[in-house]
Amino acid sequence: MLKKLLSKSKKGKHSLEVNETLINNECVPSHIAIIMDGNGRWAKKRAMPRIAGHHEGMQTVRKISRIADDMGIKVLTLYAFSTENWKRPKSEVDYLMSLPQMFLNSFMPELMERGIRVEMIGDKEGLPTSTKVALNEAMEKTKNNTGLILNFAMNYGSRAEIVKAMKDIMVEVNNGKLTLDEVDETLIDQYLLTSNLPEPDLLIRTSGEVRLSNFMLWQLAYTEFWFTDILWPDFNQETFMEAIQAYQQRNRRYGGLKGE
Ligand code: FPP
Repeated sequence: MLKKLLSKSKKGKHSLEVNETLINNECVPSHIAIIMDGNGRWAKKRAMPRIAGHHEGMQTVRKISRIADDMGIKVLTLYAFSTENWKRPKSEVDYLMSLPQMFLNSFMPELMERGIRVEMIGDKEGLPTSTKVALNEAMEKTKNNTGLILNFAMNYGSRAEIVKAMKDIMVEVNNGKLTLDEVDETLIDQYLLTSNLPEPDLLIRTSGEVRLSNFMLWQLAYTEFWFTDILWPDFNQETFMEAIQAYQQRNRRYGGLKGE
């Protein structure tokens, strides 16, 4: 039971008391990826500007990171800004780009206390300097932490990631460092931005949208998907547990037969 799992976990000052649920602590997903959607609609429902929804969404990131850490989840990958999000109004893009700094400045003491490591996937060079510096500093400060990996997908697009991996491999083949026969799935994995991470076990998308939006297309090949109508700022411990419970009831077969 989850309670038991939590009593075994670090139980620092920020630990959470989670009600007993039907979560089986033997098969908590190692890597959860989340498409955090619905901030704009959350704000609109309250006659607030879209950025208020993103601000509330950032608070949800904090809450869910704490729960993931308490549960012993190894990696939480959060889709925070896609390569397509640049099409949004400049004021919204500017706000979204300021969030990592805002989040990391205020959350850093707790990240260190919990031993959470910050990572990112995406085209870092395309980010504004202040965003890049905030992420670089957080990655540097937390690099020796051994707890949850909090992995932000920022300026991330899966097709661009795959194109870059293909080009990098072709260069290696051209200069003789690799042969064509050596190009297989394992090698391609090593050229992706997620080369140091396990594949996601569970993908969650909020807000009722049922698509991948160019997110981790290669890495999600065998991932279990879970969709909810709940808007990201309203996503909470209960919804998170519901998703994990649903995951635990799935029968992952990886293309084989039941029980294999
Ligand atoms: C999609 O909802 C959400 C985003 C493009 C941004 C997600 C960002 C956060 C949740 C905060 C990230 C926090 C940090 C620390 C980086 P939407 O705006 O498209 O919502 P809508 O579909 O309702 O309009």
